[in-house]
Amino acid sequence: MEHKHIPGLVDVIKVDQPADILRIAHDGSIDRAFGPRKPLLNGLLVRRILRVLSHHGHRFPTMRAREATGRERQQDALWQKLNAAAPDIRAAPDSLEPLAAWVRNTNANAEVGPLVQQVIGRIFSPTFEASGATWAAAQVIAASLAPGNTLRNLKWRITGKVTRAKAMLASMVGGDLAGVHGVSVAIHNVVKGVHQMRSLYLDPSVRPTLTPEMAGRRCLYAPAMVLRQATSDGTVGGCTYASGTLLLLELEKARQASGDESIIFLADTWSRCPAEQWVPAMLEGIWRRATNADGH
Ligand code: HEM
Repeated sequence: MEHKHIPGLVDVIKVDQPADILRIAHDGSIDRAFGPRKPLLNGLLVRRILRVLSHHGHRFPTMRAREATGRERQQDALWQKLNAAAPDIRAAPDSLEPLAAWVRNTNANAEVGPLVQQVIGRIFSPTFEASGATWAAAQVIAASLAPGNTLRNLKWRITGKVTRAKAMLASMVGGDLAGVHGVSVAIHNVVKGVHQMRSLYLDPSVRPTLTPEMAGRRCLYAPAMVLRQATSDGTVGGCTYASGTLLLLELEKARQASGDESIIFLADTWSRCPAEQWVPAMLEGIWRRATNADGH
């Protein structure tokens, strides 16, 4: 835990201990409302992230307060829909063949990003067609969330590059911001997992030792960071904070240090990922399809 607190300038806590993260994730007074925009650097950070993760004045679901109108209902509806689709994707349908071939290294010229984007995009629209342009849009959105590069981000703001990237993807998923989040932000953790899967597949000493379930689990990566803000004073892990303090929850760091898989999707908390069952099922499906092709 690291608390950067300079009165009038910054008040941010980085949390990387699984127990602290889970306590915060369950704590009703630590939310995503993002009301207070002080001190100075807190305000700049929150404004920058909200600018990227909003479209036409509406926040992406991952930036909405727990009690925001309709959030929980939409989260639950997507969770139900994805859970219903999980058995099919786990069974390695034809739609996973391009990804399975990429894992087998038999279509090495293909870029993996658009292949993953195609599968996620189809959840939200049966006509979604990923391309170099849609993948480039996802990369622009992710890059503008990363710290640093202030000048480039300013240029992208002035030229409307990020706004155009979001508009393009939103138009392809029927304006559903959970869909835009899926194909532009969450996708990067899935792509990371498919890269890992290819390494596992191409290692002949590892490939035969893994069942699809095991392979899927070894390819799960948590988001590097999710953002919260305290709505009252409190203490976490011996560190006191005030109402308005920002908390950066470093999920992947905590997961790697502890192996605690509940951190990956924040399952069993109010903000749990609606894709918590679908993503592991998809990864399992890719492995199943890749290995079935060569008789395993
Ligand atoms: C490896 C892949 C993924 C991981 C590790 C992951 C993880 C997470 C986590 C930790 C959260 C909670 C964020 C917070 O507490 O602020 C979250 C929220 C969310 N995720 Fe995922 N996710 C993944 C993929 C996806 C995909 C593919 C979709 C869409 C199909 C998706 C849709 C969402 C949505 C809509 C929320 C917001 C839920 C809410 O609070 O209303 N995720 N995800």
